Amino acid sequence: MKVEFDLNGKPHKLDVDAAMPLLWALRDEVGLTGTKFGCGIGQCGACTVHMDGIAMRSCSLPVAAVQGRTITTIEGISAQGLHALQEAWIEEDVPQCGYCQTGQIMAAAAMLAQNPNPSDETIDQTMSNLCRCGTYNRIRKAIHRAAAAMPTPPAEEAKP
Ligand code: FES
Ligand code: FES
Repeated sequence: MKVEFDLNGKPHKLDVDAAMPLLWALRDEVGLTGTKFGCGIGQCGACTVHMDGIAMRSCSLPVAAVQGRTITTIEGISAQGLHALQEAWIEEDVPQCGYCQTGQIMAAAAMLAQNPNPSDETIDQTMSNLCRCGTYNRIRKAIHRAAAAMPTPPAEEAKP
C-alpha cells in the first residue's frame, strides 16, 4: 500500500504492507530509530509518537491509519535546538537506562499541548508510559520545569 503523510514537518511516502505497525515503518523503512520497541502490545509507551498532536502507540497503529495525517517523532519534536522538555530532562538528569525516555517525552509533550501547567495528579493520570527504572519522580520534576519554561502552549494542535 502507498501511504502519504507528513513526517516531522515534511511530506513523506511509503510503499509497505498496510498492516505494518507504524513503529516498524519509522524504524526500518524511514530509519528513525528514536522511537523504541518495548512490549509491542500497546502497554508500555516506549513507541509513543504524535498523530495530529495526540500521543499514540506506534506499535499498535497500522501504517494505513496514518494516510494524510501528521506524524511527529522524537526526532521532529523541536524545529530548532532542543525542546523545553529535552532541556528539562537533561537538567533533572531524568534517564536511568534511557530506553523508555523518548516515549516519556513524547507523551509529556502531547500532555503539555493540552494542559500547559499540569499538577502531579494530572501527570500521573495522563502519563501511562512505563519506566522499569522507576524514574517517575524525576519525570514529574522535569515536566514542571519544562512547563515553567514554556511561555505559550506548543504550536502543534490536536485535530478532532
Ligand atoms: S512498544 Fe508500543 S506500547 Fe510498548
Ligand atoms: S529509564 Fe530505564 S526504563 Fe525508563
